[in-house]
Amino acid sequence: MESYTEKILITGALGQIGTELTNRLVKIHGAENVIASGLDRWDKNLTSAGFYERMDVSNTQLVRQIVKDYEITTVYHLASLLSGTSEKQPLFAWKLNVEPLLNFCEMAREGMLKKIFWPSSIAVFGKGIPKENVGQDVVLNPTTVYGISKMAGEKWCEYYYDKFGVDIRSIRYPGLISWKTPAGGGTTDYAVEIFYEAVEQGKYTSFISENTAMPMLYMDDAINATLKLMDAPKENLTVRGSYNLGGLSFTPKELAEEIKKEMPDFEIDYQPDFRQAIADSWPASIDDSIAKKDWGLSYEFDITAMTKDMLKNLKIKLGK
Ligand code: SER
Repeated sequence: MESYTEKILITGALGQIGTELTNRLVKIHGAENVIASGLDRWDKNLTSAGFYERMDVSNTQLVRQIVKDYEITTVYHLASLLSGTSEKQPLFAWKLNVEPLLNFCEMAREGMLKKIFWPSSIAVFGKGIPKENVGQDVVLNPTTVYGISKMAGEKWCEYYYDKFGVDIRSIRYPGLISWKTPAGGGTTDYAVEIFYEAVEQGKYTSFISENTAMPMLYMDDAINATLKLMDAPKENLTVRGSYNLGGLSFTPKELAEEIKKEMPDFEIDYQPDFRQAIADSWPASIDDSIAKKDWGLSYEFDITAMTKDMLKNLKIKLGK
């Protein structure tokens, strides 16, 4: 394997995944090799990166300049508009979710970058696809702006690999649950909000109906998977669009029952909104056997361990 010092740029570094991934990358590569970036001002409480660039990832020239100036080798391109928000701003979502990815692919094609990570999502599936244990190669039929943008992104990743050998790696993340940085605008975000409201109010009104199962994952497992995929030998990877990742599968009702084990007085009710239709078009569970075989995907947290860890940490964070 070629050996070089990695210089890493993270986009969306102040987001739900970005904050935690950045801090893990700093531990592995050292702060001096990690450059965080985002639209907002640098929040030193959120990221331990050695450098921060406040940038709009759609500004192709600026991004190019930053890649050049820091001699970036590896990009974790996380900046994106999630499913709920994308429905409200379709054209902006398309622009933000696809064009900056192409900018990075072009830079890699020109030899400026060695490796790119870009997340796809369970939103690429869609109508007419079986609900359970959905395989890697089913026909994609997204019904949301977000899903369409992720499907197109996957195809671009595959194209740049097939045509130019660009080493871009991707995971179809399920709903991600974490306590450090709130999520924003996603359909699976009920599974984050529920914990905040449980700790702060003792009750929660879910915008997803009680028996709607979706694939979910605790952030620790998501970060481990991401790093494992990025570390895997190139020749082991058989999927150059985006790897299925199943994680856990549960309904709001099942999650509420887990919370009740820790907080017996917790109450939940249900008022589904426009995001219910999005959830209905997504799988309930995913077959991720190819990721397990190709690069050793594994998980540490089940729903019980995740619930305990979320509540413990949120109580400390929120001073309850
Ligand atoms: N968590 C995302 C969303 O709900 C799915 O990838 O938008």
